[in-house]
Amino acid sequence: MSKDREEVDWSEACWKEMLIDQRKFMWHQDTLDKFAIWLDLVPGMTAVDVGCGLGNLGYIYWHYFGKGGRYFGVDISSKLVQDATEAAKNWATGGEAKFIAGDAYKLPFSDNFANWVMCQTLLMHLEKPELALSEMVRVAKPGGLIMCNEPDNLSSALAKSCWSLPELDIEEEVLLKKVYLICHKGSIKLGRGDDSIGSQVPVMMEKLGLVDIEARLNDKVEFLHPPYEGPQQQNSIYMIKKRILDQSEFWMERTREEFLAGGGDQDEFERYRKLSDKVKLIFQKQLVDGVYTTCGHGFFYVIKGRKPK
Ligand SMILES: C[S@@+](CC[C@H](N)C(=O)[O-])C[C@H]1O[C@@H](n2cnc3c(N)ncnc32)[C@H](O)[C@@H]1O
Repeated sequence: MSKDREEVDWSEACWKEMLIDQRKFMWHQDTLDKFAIWLDLVPGMTAVDVGCGLGNLGYIYWHYFGKGGRYFGVDISSKLVQDATEAAKNWATGGEAKFIAGDAYKLPFSDNFANWVMCQTLLMHLEKPELALSEMVRVAKPGGLIMCNEPDNLSSALAKSCWSLPELDIEEEVLLKKVYLICHKGSIKLGRGDDSIGSQVPVMMEKLGLVDIEARLNDKVEFLHPPYEGPQQQNSIYMIKKRILDQSEFWMERTREEFLAGGGDQDEFERYRKLSDKVKLIFQKQLVDGVYTTCGHGFFYVIKGRKPK
């Protein structure tokens, strides 16, 4: 099987916990209700979820299509397939949920198999997202639905930050944005994928001949306000502490690799590292003092299209 990136195994702790923690409060329930209508979900559908991880799309939408329906989660990681199979015993009632080890570039289904073929944060990690999308189209029935949930993180990284950290001077702000832009190029060069892919999916769908293409955004806002009441804010604080404070060296090293691959130079990276360390200290203090706030945005697209009849 061809893997998207040799070095990433989503069943390893630091990746897998994202599939758990980041998924906990990812959608407002009323948004899912609206999306289920927009997507024309009905009980009894046959669904395929490509790069399914722990089956997140299966369980958030099960209520709308699962009764008498069939859900097939496909993932390159057989460990995740095992974990997802175990977890599905708790949610896949009244229908069939099956998890299969398989490759997005060569899906283990016949042509015209499913009413609904979907993915979430898969294309953004692939070296050849168009190939994966064309496989999704192949597997959909004529008239069937293709749905891709993918972010445009580049656009949100370039937007003005909405948080309580002190304003940086213009040069520092420009350095942060420049590093993000160069890393974005580097990530694509390294075959780690394009995290701005969400806004490009409609054009990719059009090129593959899909019709009735439409796009919406998840309306979730990253909102943190002391004293961080409720499970959602507590979960966000937990994730921030883990990723930005405890695992910062791991993520810094990935940033360095992508920055250099994207054409950045080592001296500029060291300036970036110093600035990040400075920001991290202020961040840490605000978190410890319980004064950190954010009302941040992200661009997380839900794009749908249909295979022509
Ligand atoms: C960011 S995770 C998303 C998981 C899930 N869709 C979700 O939203 O929780 C990306 C998933 O794609 C899987 N993956 C990566 N490359 C793949 C490939 N070529 N074929 C199938 N799955 C792949 C990874 O193992 C991982 O579980």
